Amino acid sequence: MLKILNIVGARPNFMKIAPIQREMRRRENDFLPLIVHTGQHYDAAMSDSFFADLGIPAPDFHLEVGSASHAVQTAKIMTAFEPIVLEEKPDWVLVVGDVNSTIACALVCAKLGVKVAHVEAGLRSRDRSMPEEINRILTDSISDLLLTTSQDADENLKHEGVSEDKIIFVGNVMIDSLFHGLKRAENSNIRQNLSLTEKEYAVLTLHRPSNVDEKQIFENLLDALCEISRQLPIVFPVHPRTKANIEKFGFAEKVANSNIKLIEPLGYLDFMRLYSGAKLVLTDSGGLQEETTALGIPCLTLRENTERPITIEMGTNILVGTNPAKVTQTAFEILSQKNVSQNKKIPPLWDGRTAERICDALLKITGLSQNA
Ligand code: UD1
Repeated sequence: MLKILNIVGARPNFMKIAPIQREMRRRENDFLPLIVHTGQHYDAAMSDSFFADLGIPAPDFHLEVGSASHAVQTAKIMTAFEPIVLEEKPDWVLVVGDVNSTIACALVCAKLGVKVAHVEAGLRSRDRSMPEEINRILTDSISDLLLTTSQDADENLKHEGVSEDKIIFVGNVMIDSLFHGLKRAENSNIRQNLSLTEKEYAVLTLHRPSNVDEKQIFENLLDALCEISRQLPIVFPVHPRTKANIEKFGFAEKVANSNIKLIEPLGYLDFMRLYSGAKLVLTDSGGLQEETTALGIPCLTLRENTERPITIEMGTNILVGTNPAKVTQTAFEILSQKNVSQNKKIPPLWDGRTAERICDALLKITGLSQNA
């Protein structure tokens, strides 16, 4: 029996932990899973609604750290998490993704000699100005089990000198949640509530500090998006950071005069219902590049690099950058084509069964499975 602490902190963690937690509970003779929520995200729309939509049990431990600078937030998580590890003595701590909660909890465990499994290991944007890239590199370098979503991630880790026996290619657990939720998302009324017709709108998300924290960069992007919205209405669920900056930079009027509709951040199933019916998605998110690939929806990634190249090689993602002329031109090209996503493929092991393979991998590396 393995006692596991499953860590969640920020919005993109919840859909990764949900299927893992469910699979561990199903295998009750092998696993005792507990949930630790760091509280990095705390608004109902950024956290609680995901527990409800994804059927995640209430956290066993809540660290309630909230927002702060990177150093303060990371330190607060570490300080609050250490006594829990000492008290609970888990066999494994499982961290997902690349947020501050991921590295903070992994670092506590590395110092205490407690084993860490990193889900979504090995992704690299090669852009160290991204806080997530630092979190990825550091977390991978101190984890005992590196569970990867695609084989390019395995290659990245091997090039960094990680021993092959620590790396297991398990596929993309976020796609487990996607396939699990698709049917239930049909009950969402979000399209009716916003008077949207399938394939007659675009969805936008934008929250990276590099895109929204500097006035000129954000304004250039917004101008491009306003122009696209004249051809296809855009629905924009706004992250708290972005919302604050729209107000701070005085962009509210510009948006109000466009065909971009700002709405509050959505829950998991409402958002799935929204993007799954979109003709086009524009985003700087990591997860959405993968979700659109799994559903065959054209996606323009508003960044200069991506840690998820498989979504470009096999999927529907186009790395368009942030040059406004290029963004509008590429969007208009996609909108003028009829079947743009026809030949796109779903990457290997993005099949809805990754949580099973993660559990198998944990048993195997601990020497508990029959074929270990
Ligand atoms: C974090 C992750 C990012 C992920 C994103 C998804 C890191 C380094 N970044 O970025 O990888 O893509 O989550 O959302 O971990 N805020 C609220 N309510 C909340 C949470 C945050 O209003 O529930 C506001 C606060 O003003 C806060 C700001 O959003 O200062 C940023 O939050 P933070 O967790 O620091 O980073 P994100 O930008 O959300």
